[in-house]
Amino acid sequence: MALRYDTPSLTRWNARAYDSSFGYVSAQGEPLIELLDPCPGERILDLGCGTGVLTAEIAARGAVVTGLDGSPTMVEAARVQHPGLTFVIGDAAGFSVTEPYDAVFSNAALHWMARDPDAVIRCVRAALAPGGRFVAELGGAGNCAALTSAMLTAWREYGLPEPELPWYFPTPAEYALRLEKGGFTVRLLEYFDRPTPLDDCPGGAADWVRMFAGSLLDGVPPAVVEPLLRRVNELAAPALRRESGWVADYVRLRFAAVRA
Ligand SMILES: C[S@@+](CC[C@H](N)C(=O)[O-])C[C@H]1O[C@@H](n2cnc3c(N)ncnc32)[C@H](O)[C@@H]1O
Repeated sequence: MALRYDTPSLTRWNARAYDSSFGYVSAQGEPLIELLDPCPGERILDLGCGTGVLTAEIAARGAVVTGLDGSPTMVEAARVQHPGLTFVIGDAAGFSVTEPYDAVFSNAALHWMARDPDAVIRCVRAALAPGGRFVAELGGAGNCAALTSAMLTAWREYGLPEPELPWYFPTPAEYALRLEKGGFTVRLLEYFDRPTPLDDCPGGAADWVRMFAGSLLDGVPPAVVEPLLRRVNELAAPALRRESGWVADYVRLRFAAVRA
């Protein structure tokens, strides 16, 4: 197997913190594997595979799976944790393959590929054999709205420039249209709320911001970071803090499409 890809420019990922405090992301991907329904011997590409937890689950079903991710730290962690599997560093918006896949799978990654979603869909289509499946879940419109609204307000209150949020959270109609225009037949599309307990985030919303929006903190003066994040927590608490702890306001878009 050979993949060609452009050099990605991506958010830095803390693979260790991702697995220890945000393991829910891949754990919640299990139903997506059921939807993928990988068969023994099938060639499957896990796009934006992260540390490879779901890549390994797919491999355990007997499929021949490759994980592709733009983050060298995530790929390194994936290779250490799953030494028998193949992981490559690549940009989902600029890769090509030499041997087609039966399916492309992607969990919690497409919304990070915000620069050119159509390029991602084009690459996926080109990577698939005729009739190949594209099965994925991403953040949908309104995903983490209370979290991001608290961030934007806190940034404004501290007189900081409005941060450019790095995600793309499409509506179901918008993404279905992209898939259809990109040469796919949409067989299933679900759009649903998934309130998610941040059980391993003692710092609450601030921990989420550090993990998923850490790059936005780069432009913040170091002395301001802690008070800014405390303010994010204060602002987000009415919507997201329950007696049992913090609950993030995730909204997901899950689909299964077939290369037309
Ligand atoms: C939230 S993680 C999800 C990881 C994994 N799929 C899971 O379920 O745990 C998102 C992943 O998408 C990757 N990613 C973001 N943009 C990418 C791009 N343009 N090309 C390849 N990978 C990308 C990130 O490096 C990160 O590992």
